[in-house]
Amino acid sequence: MKEKLEQIKSQAIAQIDVSDSLEKLNEVRVNVLGKKGELTAVLKSMKDVAPEDRPKVGQMVNEVREEIEQKLEGAKKQLEQAAREAQLKAEVIDVTLPAKKNVIGHRHPNTIALEEIERIFVGMGYEVVEGPEVEKDYYNFEALNIPADHPAKDEQDTFYISGDILLRTQTSSVQIHEMEKGTIPIRMIAPGRVFRADEVDATHSPCFHQVEGLVVDKNITFADLKGTLAKFVQELFGEQTKVKFRPHHFPFTEPSAEMDVSCFKCGGTGCRFCKGSGWIEILGCGMVHPHVLEMCGIDPQEYSGFAFGVGLERIALLKYEIDDMRLLYENDIRFLKQF
Ligand code: DAH
Repeated sequence: MKEKLEQIKSQAIAQIDVSDSLEKLNEVRVNVLGKKGELTAVLKSMKDVAPEDRPKVGQMVNEVREEIEQKLEGAKKQLEQAAREAQLKAEVIDVTLPAKKNVIGHRHPNTIALEEIERIFVGMGYEVVEGPEVEKDYYNFEALNIPADHPAKDEQDTFYISGDILLRTQTSSVQIHEMEKGTIPIRMIAPGRVFRADEVDATHSPCFHQVEGLVVDKNITFADLKGTLAKFVQELFGEQTKVKFRPHHFPFTEPSAEMDVSCFKCGGTGCRFCKGSGWIEILGCGMVHPHVLEMCGIDPQEYSGFAFGVGLERIALLKYEIDDMRLLYENDIRFLKQF
């Protein structure tokens, strides 16, 4: 019996010595000390031992078990220690390496220009509203005093979805939606995409953006229009900016005008930027046509209003001195990164 136990012990110790992983150590434990292990088998065979020898044999078995357990525990600790050291070595951090730069995206020039315009008008008490891009002929043309046979319709040839459903050619359609709501006073700007059947070139795109403006209240005059728009461009292009209104025609405003600003590059003396004239055309505007007010259920005897429309791309191109509109849509990161 003694030899048998010695043999189990030395075999177990030899196996522990060559175990190079926690799994292998566990295998040894199961094989020797487990339910079906060799040492357990010896314990089970105690019934065959003469009763007077049992205490002695029992003690021997316990000693062997204890020794093996200690050896197992020691080997386990060593393996764990080695594993931790290997991990620390593998995970070493070189704090002298340069940090990784966080590359954050940023806003498109159109967005920057729009946020600037919104900031200025919100500061003057305007609300920012939106209208549908897919629009009824009525809102895009008819209610803006542009009947079916009006030549202005040719200038804004658009994409038709069906007979009287189209992609809006101008944000002026939002004026009608706002006036139809029937809550006056109105002080709103309406930014958004518009669509025209135009060929792409340096100044044209079949899809671009406008910002519409509308004010309706009692006693609104052309002086309000002039003061508001002058303030707007002074905020946008600088305090010293001068404005000039040229008579123009839009079917939905009367009188109508186009507004120029003094060239913010040369200050008005004439340069490449303003094509030598000292002035740059910036927007269309006018007093809301009484007929348009009437069609929206507003009494033109009681109320009046002014409206304007700005091309957003035009502002972005001017503000950032970009000379080709296509650059705004090409998504070339080298271009966009500059703003
Ligand atoms: N909707 C016009 C266009 O696309 C721009 C415009 C002109 C808007 C005069 C207005 C306005 O509100 O009063 O050409």
